[in-house]
Amino acid sequence: MKHWTLDQVPWDRFDANLAEPALVPLVKAAALVEYNANDYTTYLCGVFHDDPDFQQAARYWAAEEVQHGQALGKWAKLADPEFDFEDAFARFRDAFKLPLGAETSVRGSRTGELIARCMVETGTSSYYSALADTTREPVLEQVCRLIAADEYRHFKLFYDHMKRYLAREKLSVFDRARIALGRITETEDDELACAYHCANTRPGSVYRHEEAMAGYLSRAIAAYQPHHVQRGTGMIFKAVGLPPRGRISDLAARGGYLLMQRRRRKMERILERAAASQAPPLARAA
Ligand SMILES: [Fe+2]
Ligand SMILES: [Fe+2]
Repeated sequence: MKHWTLDQVPWDRFDANLAEPALVPLVKAAALVEYNANDYTTYLCGVFHDDPDFQQAARYWAAEEVQHGQALGKWAKLADPEFDFEDAFARFRDAFKLPLGAETSVRGSRTGELIARCMVETGTSSYYSALADTTREPVLEQVCRLIAADEYRHFKLFYDHMKRYLAREKLSVFDRARIALGRITETEDDELACAYHCANTRPGSVYRHEEAMAGYLSRAIAAYQPHHVQRGTGMIFKAVGLPPRGRISDLAARGGYLLMQRRRRKMERILERAAASQAPPLARAA
């Protein structure tokens, strides 16, 4: 059951003058990834083929994720009327494929799959909170707050199912932490970079993973403040079975924030190098 509808968003309050140019490409890319959630349901229903309760929850979950894609796509079109959501989505679907026929989790166990889902929802809930706190555009702020609340509920949904499977599969804290870290580092895999490319380039443009990833991450990390990372770290700790609050969690959050800033600077250097190598010879010599 959805907790809100597109009609509840005050679209007529959109103010083009307040739509930050650096956020528009991020919103376009997020719209494509979110709108693709039905493929994840196919994958999840394959992995949990004998668990009708979870399958039903996964279908409700996907309907909410698809709505996130619709809301973000609608906002992106207000900010950039030339944005062709359907065409960008078709290109993304062509370029990025999930293992739809899988009958076992790519994480090695159902508990592992659900921990990975918790990591994704941790990432999205903190990301949309960060975007909501960054933007001055009122409609984007409201859309991001609605989505962030959904993502937090999704975390709790997957966490509750994970606890059920953990009682049977008994993964250690170490195993859970390994899976969680593995999923977090996958943020730099193809999905987001590919979505960023398809959403922000013309059809036929050459896909360069490193540049697309740098474009996406340099802008996305800029939205984060320390308290977003602290909240996300608490959720990660909870999912792997460590105390979500306390000194270790605080230290990890501080370290995580510093690592993110280092990552951002590295991504900015990649973009500068790419821009310099694409500049005309005279501009390069100057
Ligand atoms: Fe979402
Ligand atoms: Fe979600």
